[in-house]
Amino acid sequence: MPGFELFGDEERKEVNDVLESGILMRYGFDALRNGHWKAKELEKELESQLQVNHVQLVSSGTAAVSVALAAAGIGAGDEVILPTFTFVASFEAIMVLGAIPILVDIDDTLTLDPEAVNNAITSKTKAIMPIHMCGSMANMDALTAICRSHNLILIEDACQAIGATYHGKPVGSIGDLGCFSFDFVKTITCGEGGAVITNNEKYYLNSDHFSDHGHDHVGSDRGAETHPFLGYNFRISELNAAVGLAQVRRLNDFVAIQKDHYSILRNALSSIDAVTFRTVPEGGEESYAFLNFFLPDLEFAQKVSRSFKENGIDACFHYYDNNWHYIRKWDHLVNLKSLYPIASEVKKGIEYLKNKSFDQSDHFIGRNISCLIKLSWTKEEVVQRANTMAQIIKNTQ
Ligand SMILES: Cc1ncc(COP(=O)(O)O)c(C=O)c1O
Repeated sequence: MPGFELFGDEERKEVNDVLESGILMRYGFDALRNGHWKAKELEKELESQLQVNHVQLVSSGTAAVSVALAAAGIGAGDEVILPTFTFVASFEAIMVLGAIPILVDIDDTLTLDPEAVNNAITSKTKAIMPIHMCGSMANMDALTAICRSHNLILIEDACQAIGATYHGKPVGSIGDLGCFSFDFVKTITCGEGGAVITNNEKYYLNSDHFSDHGHDHVGSDRGAETHPFLGYNFRISELNAAVGLAQVRRLNDFVAIQKDHYSILRNALSSIDAVTFRTVPEGGEESYAFLNFFLPDLEFAQKVSRSFKENGIDACFHYYDNNWHYIRKWDHLVNLKSLYPIASEVKKGIEYLKNKSFDQSDHFIGRNISCLIKLSWTKEEVVQRANTMAQIIKNTQ
């Protein structure tokens, strides 16, 4: 992560195909497009790589989450359970539909704690949304069992985990629906883009129509298409899809590079008593997009984080103090700061956050450091980085 570091001839070729025809729109203009359908091709490629029956490309990962929820019929007043450690997009995508994000604790996987999920289920709960943060995954066996016993929809946000697998299956393909982001900093990038994946034909057709103003996409006259239901514009452009098409064909190579770099860093830290690694659920294999580890306490982690920065070890995140990824800094959510009046269901539904603390999440995020694995490093650079990181941690008390 991120794939833009290795842009090359493949990406240029796909983009040039689009520019030569001039058709930047993914639908229609059949006679003018020289046979190029980059979004459709990327959907086919993702279906094969992610081993699912259906893929709907959309304009972002945030859009993917909203479209997936809408496709499953989740809206006003429905509760969606998700973890305290994610990206602000997760609750935004829920609330834009009038649904209510119910944040619950994470465990040492850095994702949903199944027990916390169980405790949060109410008569309004409609879906559970594990977020596979930083290249690894939630305990999907436990969450699948909970969803089955309570008749809930399981939506995987795999925006940060393309290339990871669980019992041999790509993450995102295990639940009822899965979501991916191809924004600029992801392992596979389109610049901006996202995907909803599913094996459920109804959810797929809903996603296809909803992401394009409710168009049914029947026939070749866009003006004559009917609208079975209301939709919105979450379309991806052909230019973005073209970049992603070249990138996704390189996914296995990218993951292999990430694994090499990750292994060098992990080996260097594994003999240090103060370091323990994030738990990967049994049967899971990470995408190696990040190396995630725990230090003995918050103060220790803050010192190491500072020292990494001072010594040029970039892209290592101590999320406890981060404004984007952890509940502690989301005052705008807790206080519902909005440009427009918020639906009354959401206002009421969010009230629980005013008096809620997440001690268990603090315990894990406070001690965690997540280091981004870059694709462009040379072997020498990774070895040098690994030695510096190990030395800094050993020197910290
Ligand atoms: C877990 C998670 N979900 C959703 C998103 C939103 O993706 P996008 O930036 O493509 O809208 C991100 C983006 O970083 C993310 O990390």
